[in-house]
Amino acid sequence: MSQNLQLAITAFGGPETLKLQHTSVPTPNDNQALVKVAFAGVNPIDAKTRAGLGWGAEKIKDSLPWVPGFDAAGTIVSDAGAFKAGDRVVGRIVEGGGYGQYLCADLDALSRIPDGVSFEQAACLPVAGLTALQALELADVQAGDRVLVLAGAGGVGHIAIQLGKAKGAEVFASCSSANTDFVSSLGATALDYRDQALDAQVQDIDVLIDLMGGDVGEAALACVKAGGRVVTVPTITAPRIIDAAKEKGIEAQGMLVKPNTQQLDMLTAAIEAKSLLVEITKIYPLEQGVQAHVDIQSGRTRGKILLEMP
Ligand SMILES: NC(=O)c1ccc[n+]([C@@H]2O[C@H](COP(=O)([O-])OP(=O)(O)OC[C@H]3O[C@@H](n4cnc5c(N)ncnc54)[C@H](OP(=O)(O)O)[C@@H]3O)[C@@H](O)[C@H]2O)c1
Repeated sequence: MSQNLQLAITAFGGPETLKLQHTSVPTPNDNQALVKVAFAGVNPIDAKTRAGLGWGAEKIKDSLPWVPGFDAAGTIVSDAGAFKAGDRVVGRIVEGGGYGQYLCADLDALSRIPDGVSFEQAACLPVAGLTALQALELADVQAGDRVLVLAGAGGVGHIAIQLGKAKGAEVFASCSSANTDFVSSLGATALDYRDQALDAQVQDIDVLIDLMGGDVGEAALACVKAGGRVVTVPTITAPRIIDAAKEKGIEAQGMLVKPNTQQLDMLTAAIEAKSLLVEITKIYPLEQGVQAHVDIQSGRTRGKILLEMP
């Protein structure tokens, strides 16, 4: 346990700004546990922050180097709070740091991983799973609602479809033709966005879960019925979507995913019960994190991609 290999940025820029660094293993404070990370999730926010965009970059700009990684699954190194050495845990790591062999995690950000759930499955959940769950709750999705999920094949979208179905909603999801079978297998009616405009394919939507934002998110407002609800998840374009929705008499809200261990417990329990599936498209070794960022910023990955620590 003498060294801690991490992938870090020292300046904002392209994927190649991610460089391996050797640091010492950090020391947790009284409210933290030292975690030996097994897998970290890779999320679009990691690439946006690395590039210097959005609230994430604003927050860290004066404290570089920064180690990305808001999702981490691994093992408790030594007893801390209610956790014992060897406990398998997953957490939403607010400051980042998942792209490294060891990190100090706040005790209240960690959830135990049930026996029937792998580190890989758990590492998919903190950002993507919590975002899907919190977006559906914010939109107050009810049984019988017609819900449209934009980007249904992505990390958040493929989980949102399943959680929406579990609430008894009728779920529609946009994707490319390469992903229609995948999205249908999760229980949604797949809408190929290249086939026809979405509003020509579906109308009278009660709830729009907008995981695209920008032009795509704004165009999808035409599918929503009067009095419908919209949660627009990409933060950078949220003000624009909220304004455009208001002009149409539709209530739209932005959101920022929050750590929530109870909700994480619910999600890992759902995986163990096989009522929730997480799709892992690719696992890269930490040393290939640059390629993982090339993939995630393409905006075309299916399900989740992960980094495996050495
Ligand atoms: N506010 C928050 O707290 C928060 C939290 C999490 C995520 N986010 C944001 O939410 C967004 C989604 O995150 P994510 O992790 O799900 O992203 P992701 O995994 O990178 O999404 C990739 C998916 O987007 C689909 N896609 C690309 N263009 C599309 C289009 N025009 N129409 C429909 N689908 C399209 C692709 O499917 P095809 O290949 O089939 O096109 C691909 O499967 C990102 O902007 C992310 O930064 C915000």
